[in-house]
Amino acid sequence: MLNLICPKCKTPLTQLNQELQCKGCQKTYPIIDGIPSFIENKDKFYHEYYQTQIGTKWAKGHVGFKNPILSTLYYIWNQTSIVGKRYRFFQKVLRKERDTLILDLGCGGGYKLFIRYGNVVGVDLELAPLKNAKNLYRMAIHADIATLPFEDNTFDYILSADVMGHIPVENKDKVLSEIYRVLKKGGKTAHVIETESNNFLFRFAQKYPDLYRKSFIEDIGGHFGLEASKDVLNRFNKHKFRSIKVEKLWGIIWPTEEYVNRFDNAYKEKSRSIKMLVSICKVLNKNIIIFGIINILLGAINYLVEAVTPLEHGAGILVVHKK
Ligand SMILES: C[S@@+](CC[C@H](N)C(=O)[O-])C[C@H]1O[C@@H](n2cnc3c(N)ncnc32)[C@H](O)[C@@H]1O
Ligand SMILES: [Zn+2]
Repeated sequence: MLNLICPKCKTPLTQLNQELQCKGCQKTYPIIDGIPSFIENKDKFYHEYYQTQIGTKWAKGHVGFKNPILSTLYYIWNQTSIVGKRYRFFQKVLRKERDTLILDLGCGGGYKLFIRYGNVVGVDLELAPLKNAKNLYRMAIHADIATLPFEDNTFDYILSADVMGHIPVENKDKVLSEIYRVLKKGGKTAHVIETESNNFLFRFAQKYPDLYRKSFIEDIGGHFGLEASKDVLNRFNKHKFRSIKVEKLWGIIWPTEEYVNRFDNAYKEKSRSIKMLVSICKVLNKNIIIFGIINILLGAINYLVEAVTPLEHGAGILVVHKK
C-alpha cells in the first residue's frame, strides 16, 4: 500500500524478515509486532508518561462501541456535546473519495472516525498505543513526526488531534515541512492544536507560574510547545500552506472534566469561585447521565460564547490548510 523510505537519507527501504534495510546509508530498522520502528532513543517524557500516568487513556484511542445502542448514544454525544467538538471538526473536513490515504500524526490508539474516509496510517512516538492503532488502521509506524519515513506527495489528508501543543517550539518547523513534503498537492491538513490563551481563566492560572507549569503543561501530557493562535497561523503561512478554515476549540466554557483536571489542586486555595466550580463539576461528573446532559448543554453555550469572543480566547484552535 505504501512504500517506506529511510528517514535519514530518503532511500526506499526493502524488507528482509523482521527488518527494513536502507541500501543508501546501510541503516536497518526493526519491525516490532508488525510495527516498523524508526525510533532509537525513546522520548523520555512520553515513555515515562505512558508507563505511569494517563497514557493508557490515550492508548485506547477513540474507537467507540460495538453495541448498537451505545454506538448511537456515542454518535449523539459527538454531534452535540462540547467534548465532541474535535469529532465534528474532522467529520466536516474529511470526504471519502477513491483510495483516499490519510495520515494520523501522534495517533495514540487511533480514531475510528478516520477509517470511514479512507486507508489510515498512524504515527506515534510510543509503541504501547500503536499496538491498538495497528488493529484499527492499515498501518502503524513508530516514528517521530519531525522525520517521517514516507515519500513526497503521498497523502490526501494529514491530521492530528492534540499533538502540536506537545511539539517543542524548536521542532515545529521541521514537523510542518515534513507535513508539506508528504502531503499531495491539493491535499488538506487539519489539526486540533492546543494554544496559549488570554481568556480570564488562563490569566488567573498564569498568575501562579509553578502551578500553571504543573497543571497546564506537565500534568496534561506535556504541553511543552504551546503558542498563541496567531503564531500557529503564521507558522503555517511561512510553510506556504493556504489557510482554509480557522475555529476556536473552546475558551472559558470547558467540558466539566477539564475544570477538575486543571483546577482540582492548589488552585482551589487561590480562589473561592474556582473551588466552588471544581466541587460542582465533581458532583456532576459522578453520574454519567447528568454528566452527559450538562456537557451537551455546555456544547450549546460554548457555541454562543465562541461567536462573540476573539480567537485568542480559545484554549486551542482547529485549523485546515491546503497544499
Ligand atoms: C494528547 S495525545 C493525543 C493522541 C491522539 N491523537 C488522540 O487524539 O487520542 C498526544 C500524542 O502525540 C504523541 N507524540 C508527541 N510528540 C510526538 C512526536 N514528536 N512524534 C510522534 N508522536 C508524538 C504522543 O506519544 C501521544 O500519543
Ligand atoms: Zn538511509
